[in-house]
Amino acid sequence: MSANRPAAVVVLAAGEGTRMKSKTPKVLHEISGRSLVGHVVSAARELEPEHLVVVVGHAREQVEAHLADRYAGTRTAFQAEQNGTGHAVRMGLEELGGAPDGTVIVVCGDTPLLTGATLSALAATHGADGNAVTVLTAEVPDSTGYGRIVRDDATGAVTAIVEHKDASDEQRAIREINSGVFAFDGALLGDALKKVRTDNSQGEEYLTDVLGILREAGHRVGASVAGDHREILGINNRVQLSEARRLLNQRLLEQAMLSGVTVVDPASVIVDVTVTFGPDAIVHPGTQLLGATHVGEGAEVGPNTRLQDTVVGAGARVDNTVAYSSEVGEGASVGPFAYLRPGTRLGAKGKIGTYVETKNAVIGEGTKVPHLSYVGDATIGEYSNIGAASVFVNYDGEKKHHTTIGSHCRTGSDNMFVAPVTVGDGAYTAAGSVITKDVPAGSLAVARGQQRNIEGWVARKRPGSAAAQAAAAATEDVAGEN
Ligand code: UD1
Ligand code: CA
Repeated sequence: MSANRPAAVVVLAAGEGTRMKSKTPKVLHEISGRSLVGHVVSAARELEPEHLVVVVGHAREQVEAHLADRYAGTRTAFQAEQNGTGHAVRMGLEELGGAPDGTVIVVCGDTPLLTGATLSALAATHGADGNAVTVLTAEVPDSTGYGRIVRDDATGAVTAIVEHKDASDEQRAIREINSGVFAFDGALLGDALKKVRTDNSQGEEYLTDVLGILREAGHRVGASVAGDHREILGINNRVQLSEARRLLNQRLLEQAMLSGVTVVDPASVIVDVTVTFGPDAIVHPGTQLLGATHVGEGAEVGPNTRLQDTVVGAGARVDNTVAYSSEVGEGASVGPFAYLRPGTRLGAKGKIGTYVETKNAVIGEGTKVPHLSYVGDATIGEYSNIGAASVFVNYDGEKKHHTTIGSHCRTGSDNMFVAPVTVGDGAYTAAGSVITKDVPAGSLAVARGQQRNIEGWVARKRPGSAAAQAAAAATEDVAGEN
């Protein structure tokens, strides 16, 4: 790759994207966990160019802030008015102090499916053929809206690119289109851009005119046809946005499947580009895996599960669960119907069961929270069991407090742990207890009202009721037995 290392990549991202009908600038719309421009910048970075510059204009501050936040070190050039793609490239080159010697790659910020491999193949063809410009083209089923590639009938050489709006009927019938991606000889590009005029239907400086200019000056103009036309899909509206999301998702899942992951129903599974899998992981239908999520070797996730920035250990099982910024240990089990909020760390072979919510909770190896509980701001040791319907009462109305439970504890059902409170190793607590005081290791804590039975109360207070009759019958039965 380094032999074809470009001098610069210029990403065009100054347009508003009116057809998106959105307050968000087009290039900041996201698919598969990255903005449109982020996908393009990521692909461009694979080429390791000497310079990478993104041309911004519409909603400049927002786009620049996004790039600074997510793609630190990315240089931007400002195009105050969107006078066309040729003008945008001029602004980009000005930012670099003029057109650099060597190859300059130009790519639009709205083509998120483009891969680094395709860009690198384009740079390689460009270099090998000794072209002044090489355009990446594709045969598409519907070329509406795209610039058409006009070729010489006799030689097949590219003679011009004609924009849809400027094309004749005959030209509109052409299926080969301009992807918007080019490799240029930097110095020749710089000169040619000075000659681009604005006498077209949009009154803009078209980058595409550079081809004709270079050709007329006797330079070599080449084209490289993309193997898969879907890769150059340009996003202009939200229908195309969803189509690109679907295609990228499919690509990501195919890569996962070919590397040894079972995806039961790819059509109902959504993954971000940043998600990783161990071998033999299984993804069940209706599952969304987002951000820095990792599904470990042999682990099973889904159905109907959303995991964001969550690491699932080898052999773990996560069923019908929503989790954010959490860790599930090896061989652990989560769900069905669990909600893991940030800071949940479940140890190996642990369990967070049905209707359980956790937050900022470190739960040790082999420890189980099986049913109907809230565990917030807690540390629980190893091999403890938390009884059903327990609540870690962490909030006093103003501040959050921490609960610590030791190892090998058995806490009763329906316990309230009023934080801050500590339960020592090996301790038990009685069902229905409200634990407000620390429990020493190995003791049984009982913290509930004593039961009192007021005999004959129903007969006296609810005479003639069905309850009273049932009670009377039961009492007779008992009497009869005597
Ligand atoms: C452009 C091409 C067309 C090609 C298509 C591929 C030109 C004249 N047309 O058309 O041949 O088939 O892309 O998708 O090049 N931009 C700026 N500044 C501007 C104008 C545009 O930065 O002044 C940026 C936009 O933000 C966008 C990209 O350039 O990322 C393409 O602009 P867009 O308006 O979408 O061009 P198309 O009409 O799609
Ligand atoms: Ca476009």
